[in-house]
Amino acid sequence: MSTKLIAPSILAADFANLQRDIEMVNQSDADWFHIDIMDGVFVPNISFGMPVLKAISKHAKKTIDVHLMIVDPDRYIKTFAELGSNILTVHYEACTHLHRTLQAIKAEGMQAGVALNPHTNINVLEDTINDIDLVCLMSVNPGFGGQSFIENTYNKVAQLKTLIEQKGASTKIEIDGGVTNKNAKQLVAAGADVLVAGSYVFKSSNQIQTVKDLKALVNS
Ligand code: DX5
Ligand code: ZN
Repeated sequence: MSTKLIAPSILAADFANLQRDIEMVNQSDADWFHIDIMDGVFVPNISFGMPVLKAISKHAKKTIDVHLMIVDPDRYIKTFAELGSNILTVHYEACTHLHRTLQAIKAEGMQAGVALNPHTNINVLEDTINDIDLVCLMSVNPGFGGQSFIENTYNKVAQLKTLIEQKGASTKIEIDGGVTNKNAKQLVAAGADVLVAGSYVFKSSNQIQTVKDLKALVNS
């Protein structure tokens, strides 16, 4: 079985000590940086934008996984590639021409991800799953860190895993929102490959140890 990955969400970092928190992720057992970009339209919150991502990219030594919670993401695909994104995830609910958007992301040399809100059924991806490198299942309603995990996510992971296998796709499954050591193992058992963790990592007293323990737990 392939190694299960941990992606700390920088949204929960201390923005006044961003370089310190990026170095923590660099030195930890974490695999990816998860970067949440919110526009205040697709979601009722604004996070940070291009200058901050540029600063993060300068110090980050691991894969940069950018989660766009913005309307009309096609406008910025090229910009996010230039800013150092390795994976660019758009929301299914924000894309009128999803297939075209996925091709445009890949044309810029990035892996293409699609995020689904908690209310969006897995079956909407039946015709695109072979073109998707990563599906991000939202296990909270997007917009804020620190929310509680929605239990129905386990069913969705299992349904998505079945779809990926049926179609012979190599898509990774990422879970985003409310991930802790209480649900991590069950998510991986259901088929998850990547766990995003914001508050659970950054609000803990020993962040390096928390990442280490979470990584060990999901790979045990
Ligand atoms: C929510 C974001 C998440 C968030 C996760 O809209 O997409 O990535 O940062 O934070 P926690 O782990 O605190 O739920
Ligand atoms: Zn996210």
